[in-house]
Amino acid sequence: MGPTRPVITIAIPCQKPDQEPMQTRLLNSTEADAAVTILRQGELVALPTETVYGLAGDASNEKAIQKIFAAKGRPPDHPLIMHVHSMEAAGEWAVDIPAQAMLLADKFWPGPLTMIFRKQPSASPLITGGLDTIALRAPDHPLTLEIIRKLGTGVAAPSANAHKKTSPTRAEHVLKSLSGRIAAVIDGGECKVGIESTIVDMTGDTPVILRPGAITKAMIEDVLGAAVAQPAGHDEKVAGNMPVHYQPETTLHIRSGAQLAELAGSESNIAIMHYSDLVMGAGVTGYRMPTDKSAYARALYATLHRIDATGVKAIYLEAPPDAPEWSDIHDRLAKASAS
Ligand code: TXA
Ligand code: MG
Repeated sequence: MGPTRPVITIAIPCQKPDQEPMQTRLLNSTEADAAVTILRQGELVALPTETVYGLAGDASNEKAIQKIFAAKGRPPDHPLIMHVHSMEAAGEWAVDIPAQAMLLADKFWPGPLTMIFRKQPSASPLITGGLDTIALRAPDHPLTLEIIRKLGTGVAAPSANAHKKTSPTRAEHVLKSLSGRIAAVIDGGECKVGIESTIVDMTGDTPVILRPGAITKAMIEDVLGAAVAQPAGHDEKVAGNMPVHYQPETTLHIRSGAQLAELAGSESNIAIMHYSDLVMGAGVTGYRMPTDKSAYARALYATLHRIDATGVKAIYLEAPPDAPEWSDIHDRLAKASAS
């Protein structure tokens, strides 16, 4: 990785732990203008992206940014991702954007790739958790791009779920987690990627993948014609790298197909997410997962949310293939099943 970065110390005003509950509006996809108005008022709107729904606040309004941390129960030193409509808007938030980043943006933006740059001095340290770097991406969803363009500035947006919980891939998942804590969610349908963006640190000589996602190491290296790093472990202060994250309400266990075949016959009141053929005993509900990696990613969180709603005592999930293109799935599952 690049040179050690100075960490800025910031004072973040305390949030009232219990905010007044508010009526969360469910907007439909024709109500982009209403979403823009709410954002301009400094309130939060959960927006659809191709990865997961994001909890957006006007990034030029520090009060709005503070509300994001309060609504999620997120520690203030865990940085947010800035969402912009294109690379042209990136200069408003970041400096020293390297040529390699332009190549990646040309190929993958709008899309599930977040890049980390040095931040503009004018970008609030509340967004970056006090770091002197900033994470940027252009999300590939027409409704959200329209809202960002109309707002005329970027939106800071983490995934629209309570801290450490499973990310939402439908508007109803957002409501389950954040209803009464945010002004609105706008329904843009089901997220087509289904897990969070790839995060690449572009501040050093070699790009470093901090979080795997749909844009793989091989895809990035192919565009750059150069090697990128993907270390196994990172600084745990960074939110996405916490050992416990993405957790469903129901305890999740990862098992081999052979172990599941046994459990399927002996356990009850459990759910099994599997792709091998299994015979389910009474009281065991099977959820067939796709074997295609993209389809699996799209189904993963949606299935966890669905099972949560059934109230079973545990979820057992068949370990996916141990192949490099599945590294993002393994990353999320390890954290979602950690105790
Ligand atoms: O697909 C996504 O990335 C979704 C959608 C809404 O865009 N967003 C998302 O945000 O997953 P969140 O807050 O759940 O995860 C953001 C990750 C965190 O792990 C955070 O630590 C990392 O981005 N991050 C943000 N700024 C960073 C920085 N300056 N340096 C290192 N990591 C950073
Ligand atoms: Mg998140």
